[in-house]
Amino acid sequence: MSRPTQIIIDLSAIKANCALARSLAPLSNIVAVVKADAYGHGAIEVAKALEPQVQMLTVSCLEEAQSLRRGGISKAILLLEGCFSEAEIIIAEQLNLQLVVHNQQQVDQLINTRLNSQLKIWLKIDTGMHRLGIAPESTENFYQQLSACPHVSDVVLTTHFASADRLDSDFTLTQLSLYKQAVSNTIEQANEPIEQSIANSAGVLAWPQSRLDWNRPGIMLYGLSPFASSHEEANKLIPAMTFKSQIISLRIVAAGESVGYGNTWTADQSSVIATVAVGYGDGYPRTAKSGTPVLVGGKRAKLVGNVSMDMVCVDVTALRGVEIGDEVEMWGTNLSANEVAAWSDTIGYELVTRMPMRVRRSYTHATSK
Ligand SMILES: Cc1ncc(COP(=O)(O)O)c(C=O)c1O
Repeated sequence: MSRPTQIIIDLSAIKANCALARSLAPLSNIVAVVKADAYGHGAIEVAKALEPQVQMLTVSCLEEAQSLRRGGISKAILLLEGCFSEAEIIIAEQLNLQLVVHNQQQVDQLINTRLNSQLKIWLKIDTGMHRLGIAPESTENFYQQLSACPHVSDVVLTTHFASADRLDSDFTLTQLSLYKQAVSNTIEQANEPIEQSIANSAGVLAWPQSRLDWNRPGIMLYGLSPFASSHEEANKLIPAMTFKSQIISLRIVAAGESVGYGNTWTADQSSVIATVAVGYGDGYPRTAKSGTPVLVGGKRAKLVGNVSMDMVCVDVTALRGVEIGDEVEMWGTNLSANEVAAWSDTIGYELVTRMPMRVRRSYTHATSK
C-alpha cells in the first residue's frame, strides 16, 4: 500500500467558484489569478479548467507564464510584476503576454526594446499598498509616456487593495478615492474609454465599487474566503483542495503522559490517541497548535502535541469505533483550510500554496453544480 497522504483537487469546485465571481460582476471580465501554481492547485490543470470561463489568466512572473504556454494554454496572460529586463520583454512578446508596468525603469526598458508588435500594458498605481506601483500624482505622466511608446497598444489602469478583506476598515475606501483622484484627469482627457482593474477576491465579493472592466479573483476561485468572518457571498464558495490521510496507529495514553516531540501536550485523562500519516513534510503546518480541528471519519477531533515531519497525533477519545485505516481530513470540503490556518498563525492562502511535491495529487470533477 502506498502512503495514504494525498491532495484531491476538485476542478468543478473551481469552475463553480468562478461562476460565482461572474455572477457577482456580470459586466466585468475575469482575469483568473493562477500564480504560484494556482495557489498550489496546479496552474496548468486549473488554467485548462477555467479557459472557457475567463477572459484572461495572470501569474507573477515570466517563468510561470512560460510554463503555462508549454502546458498548452493559449489564453491571454498578464505578468503581475511585469518584466525585469529587455530580454524578458522580447520573450513576453513572443508568448503574447501582457505586462504590468509599475516603475520608470520598466517604462524605459519597454521604450528601448526592439519589438515587432505592440503589447497591452497595465499601469499599476500605488494607492496605499506601498509594494508596487507609481505615485498616484504621476499617473498622467506615465500614461502619456506609455501612450507615446510605439510598442504599446493599450494601457489599462490598475491598482491593488491592501486590506479589502477587512470589511470594517476604511482603508479600502481611502484607496478607492485616491485611485479615482489619480485617474480622473487621464480618463477625462483620453479620446477613448480606458480599461480599468481593481477588484481582487475581496473586491469581487464585497466591494461593488471596485468591480470594473477586469476583476482579478484569486483565492475565491480555490474556494477559500478572504474574510476572517462569515460573509453571505463567501459562504457559497466550495473549497477545491481536500488534504487527507489515514490513521496508521492507535494507543491508549494514560493520564499524566505526554504526546509527541517536546512533550507539549499532556493527557488529563486516559486518552485514545490516533497517529495520522501526515506532517509538516507533507505541508501540514508545524505551527498548528494542540486543539486544531481535524475530521476523523467525518467527525471533528483535536490535534494533540507538536506536528512531526511525517505524522500528527489526534485525540479520538470522544469518538466511537475509530480504527487503523480510517480516513482523516486535514482540510477540504468539510473543514476549511482557513480554520486550520487560524490555529496555526497563518492564512489559508499560505497553507494551500505551499504543498510539497511528495504528496500524491489527483484531480476530480466531484461537485455537480
Ligand atoms: C495584483 C494582484 N491582484 C489580484 C490578486 C488576487 O488576490 P486574492 O487572492 O486575494 O483574490 C493578487 C494576489 O496576491 C495580486 O497580487
